[in-house]
Amino acid sequence: MKKTILSPLSILVCSGALVLSNSLQAAPFEVLHWWTEPGELQSKQVLVDHLKVNDIEFEDFAIVGGGGDGAIHVLQMRALSGTPPEAAQIKGPDINEWDKLSMLVSIDQLVDTQAWTNFLPEVVIDDVSVDQEYMGVPINIHRVNWLWLNSNIFKRFGLAAPKTWKQFFAVADFIQAKGVKPLSMGGTPWQDALLFESVAISVLGPENYIKAFVHFDNSVINSTEMVEAFKLFKRLHAYTSIAQQGQDWFWASQSFINDQAAMFFMGDWVKGSWTAAGKEALKDYQCVPAPGTEGVFSYNIDSFVLFKKVNTEIELANQKTFVNTLISPEFQIEFSKVKGSIPARQNVDLSGFDACSKQSAQDFDNKVKVPSFTQNMATSSHQQGQIIQLISDYFNSESLSAEEAVQQLSVMVKALTSK
Ligand code: GAL
Repeated sequence: MKKTILSPLSILVCSGALVLSNSLQAAPFEVLHWWTEPGELQSKQVLVDHLKVNDIEFEDFAIVGGGGDGAIHVLQMRALSGTPPEAAQIKGPDINEWDKLSMLVSIDQLVDTQAWTNFLPEVVIDDVSVDQEYMGVPINIHRVNWLWLNSNIFKRFGLAAPKTWKQFFAVADFIQAKGVKPLSMGGTPWQDALLFESVAISVLGPENYIKAFVHFDNSVINSTEMVEAFKLFKRLHAYTSIAQQGQDWFWASQSFINDQAAMFFMGDWVKGSWTAAGKEALKDYQCVPAPGTEGVFSYNIDSFVLFKKVNTEIELANQKTFVNTLISPEFQIEFSKVKGSIPARQNVDLSGFDACSKQSAQDFDNKVKVPSFTQNMATSSHQQGQIIQLISDYFNSESLSAEEAVQQLSVMVKALTSK
C-alpha cells in the first residue's frame, strides 16, 4: 500500500498545475462512483437513502463503466481543474496516490476512528490507511475469485462443479459438445484480466501471485510458471461467447443467468444484478471458487475518500455525517445485501444474507487473502491499466505467444516501477 510511485497526475500536481478550489461548495454532496448497472443502482440507492435520513442530499456523479476506468479519468480531470466532488469511490493503492497530492481529508482528523480497529479486519484497515492514518472509509468486501455455475444447465446435463482446471476443461468440452456456450464473457480488457487473475492465483499460488502482482518481483513475473498461467488462460478463449468489444460485465451476467451460457468468472457484485432480476443463490446459480483457488480469497474492498474543499460548518458537518453513515453497521448490512458483497465490518448479523455471501464471509475468515490486481487492490490504477491491456491483448491475439507476452510483461513492469 505504501509504494512511492508517482502517477502522471502526481507529476502534474507537483509541477504546480493543480489549483484547488477555494470557492464555496454548497450542499448537495457530490459523490463520484461507477455503479450504473441495475444491481449497482439499487445498492447506490441504499447509500442515497441512508444519507438522506441524515440530511445529506446525494448528488450523483456516475461514470458508466464497470471496474471504474472511465470514472478515474474523469475524476482526474475534475481534480486538475480544481473542482473535485465531495467524495469519490477510490480504492486500494490509489488512495495513497491521491493522498500524495494532499487533496484528501484525513478521516482520523474528521471523526473519532479509535473504535474502528475493534470491528475492521486488518486487511481492510491497511487498505484504506496511509502511514497508519485512515484516508478512506471502507464499506464492503467483494470476493473476486468466484466461478458461477448456471443451475439449469448444470442440472440438465447432470454435471458436478469443477474444482480443478482439468475438471473445468472436461465440463466445458462436454457443454460445448451439447451446443451450449460454456463460458459467458464481456468485452472489456479488465474482464479478460479478471479471468487471468484467477488462473494466475491457481497456477502461481497465493505467495507468488502476491510477489508478481503486488511487489512486481521479476523472478516470478519472468518465470516458467507465469508462462504456464498465460497458456492456461489462453485455452479458455475457445469456450467464451464472442462479446462485442467494450461490452460491460452486465451483459455477460445476463446471458449467463438467462441460460445462454453455463459458467461465468466474475466478482460477487454480479449477484447484485441477479438479485435485482429476482434470481436466487443456490437455486438459479451456484457459487464455487475458481478452479485451483479454493484456499484463497481474492478481495476487492469498496471505499470512499473525501476531498479537501470545506469552507463552512455545514460542509464540515456533512463530511462527518457522510463518514459516520458509511461506517455504520445498519448501512453496511443493507448495502451489502443488495450489492452481493459482505460488510467491511466484522461480527455483524449476516442472517439475512444469501448463501454465497455467507460462504464468502466464512472464506474471508479462513482462507489466504490476496488483493485483486484487476480491482485496484494491488497496484495503482495507472500501473494496473497497462498490465490489464497487455493481458487482454494476449487473450484476443492470434499471434502473440505466452512466452512473448510474459517477456512484454516483464519489460513493462520494469518500466512501470523505475523512478
Ligand atoms: C468494482 C467495484 C465493485 C463493482 C465492480 C463492477 O471495481 O469495486 O463495487 O461494482 O467494479 O462495476
